[in-house]
Amino acid sequence: MRIILLGAPGAGKGTQAQFLMGKFGIPQISTGDMLRSAIKEGSELGLAAKRVMDEGKLVSDDIIIGLVKERIAREDCKDGFLLDGFPRTIPQADAMKDAGIKIDHVIEFDVPDDVIVERMSGRRVHPASGRVYHVSNNPPKTEGKDDVTGEALIIREDDKEDTVRHRLSVYHEQTKPLVGYYAKEAEQGNCEYHKLDGTKAVSDVSKELDELLG
Ligand code: AP5
Ligand code: ZN
Repeated sequence: MRIILLGAPGAGKGTQAQFLMGKFGIPQISTGDMLRSAIKEGSELGLAAKRVMDEGKLVSDDIIIGLVKERIAREDCKDGFLLDGFPRTIPQADAMKDAGIKIDHVIEFDVPDDVIVERMSGRRVHPASGRVYHVSNNPPKTEGKDDVTGEALIIREDDKEDTVRHRLSVYHEQTKPLVGYYAKEAEQGNCEYHKLDGTKAVSDVSKELDELLG
């Protein structure tokens, strides 16, 4: 099963990716998580990406497309994968198509901007695993600690309100056109397109995904 999770920053892609990974046993490919690991390692890619990410802008298509192609070629992706945060520009989507990488389902999480801003202010993450929490909507069992490892949770650098607003404007400008792009792909029978109400509770969104994907 090859799935694209599409939606604004904070729409719940990472949260539902955790659910779907467990359900289908396929890996999550989060370009955001990959870039954050590169920053932590201090690699050349990390150094180049940090400034762009802190400003809420997009990393260049060439870099991202190379990263994803390399990741998808690995053994653990042979039965499918979950793309989280990729593609987010038309050239990124075209690159997948040109490489002959077929997508089964595109899932759009629809969440209005004002809900997003509130969500981001309460987000806490466990960087090593990509697990995501929210102080009130989806709290960890112990405050400030990851449920599985007990390690400390952190606040993402790009979750400051100004940066979130900038990321939202980048989303509307550069990523939202993918809604039309994949709706057309679906019309041509190349994939299935599903739009979900991402404002529902985390467990309700998971339930809908469960019913949708069988
Ligand atoms: P990335 O890490 O991909 O960030 P994003 O797309 O902005 O998405 P987020 O991770 O912020 O949100 P999410 O949808 O995963 O929401 P989450 O589940 O965490 O990218 C970061 C940066 O990297 C980009 O700005 C860019 O610079 C660069 N980058 C990455 N990919 C790139 C690409 N392809 N091309 C170019 N540049 C790229 O949930 C958010 C919060 O809400 C959490 O606290 C969660 O607990 C809570 N929550 C989730 N669901 C619900 C719900 N149903 N109800 C209530 N609360 C909920
Ligand atoms: Zn995410």
